[in-house]
Amino acid sequence: MIAATSTTPAARNPATERALADTLLSPRFYTTDFAAMDRLDVSAVREEWDRLIDEFRNDTNLRHFKRTEAFRAAVEAMPDALREEFLDFLISSITAEFSGCLLYADIKKNTSNPDIRMLMGYMSRDEARHANFINESLADFGLAIDLSILKSAKKYTHFSPKFIFYATYLSEKIGYARYITIFRQIERHPDRQFHPIFGWFKEWCNDEFRHGEAFALLMRGHPQLLKGPNRLLIRFFILAVFATMYVRDHSRPNFYAALGLDPTDYDFTVFRITSSIMRQVFPLTLDIDHPKFRSGLERLRRIAEAKAAVRKRGGLLAPVKLAALSAAAAAGFLRLYALPARSNAVPNRVRLTPAW
Ligand SMILES: [Fe+2]
Ligand SMILES: [Fe+2]
Repeated sequence: MIAATSTTPAARNPATERALADTLLSPRFYTTDFAAMDRLDVSAVREEWDRLIDEFRNDTNLRHFKRTEAFRAAVEAMPDALREEFLDFLISSITAEFSGCLLYADIKKNTSNPDIRMLMGYMSRDEARHANFINESLADFGLAIDLSILKSAKKYTHFSPKFIFYATYLSEKIGYARYITIFRQIERHPDRQFHPIFGWFKEWCNDEFRHGEAFALLMRGHPQLLKGPNRLLIRFFILAVFATMYVRDHSRPNFYAALGLDPTDYDFTVFRITSSIMRQVFPLTLDIDHPKFRSGLERLRRIAEAKAAVRKRGGLLAPVKLAALSAAAAAGFLRLYALPARSNAVPNRVRLTPAW
């Protein structure tokens, strides 16, 4: 399913080790209840579904992910601090891409429902391309990840299909919003393109947008997923992915400075785009303009920073300090969760076009 990259990566190089690590902020691998996936029925959204599948079949990005010689040259010119954070960005991106690739391929393998198999096959194809393309850039640093090691050695989290829908829908749409925001910045400031990979982001993020559309249709085709107590779960998932993204992005100051972006502004642009997209399916969005939303995220960021400092310093009291900081983070998250959400009435037509 994943073609070997052009280089032979050393087993368990530092990049593979970092991709294997399970931290609160790192992307995870998932498995799910395949029998329940098999029972999904898209007849309620058939017309929009068939059009989406046609788009996948047309495969407009078939020839898009071809690198050029400029990729390697960019690596040599990169200052050390930026190089470290850019690598961190590539490693967390490839882990997320490969996570989708494996999950979608696994669902295809373990179901017989023709609609689901067709969709998952196409999405896995796209994610394999994305992961391999990033791996070629990692190879320029001598740090190509051995994806077969990652596949067999990384821990898998079991999520029910409902959780998979919320989590992957959000990650696909946020992926779109993140890539397009960087692409637009580079379009305005071509001198900020410190690595050519950003020039590939526009067509790339259209793939992610389309993947998100598939989950939007699946959820709208099963409206019980979007009602009652599920509203609380949806709110939880949105907040969890927004907060994780905020904390993680703020740990890469050199990366965003090189792009000419302020991480807070960048994140709020991504929150805004994602919030307007998710009105196609979710019964609520977060009130991202609430002043306590901003200050609550800042609090989580400061706690994460303090935790990193304690870990670095070590010492006898470190476990106690870390436990106290984790409790403070949980309390901060709950406070954010308690902020009022904005109700949303979903439109009749589900599909959106990527217009950002
Ligand atoms: Fe992808
Ligand atoms: Fe995707």
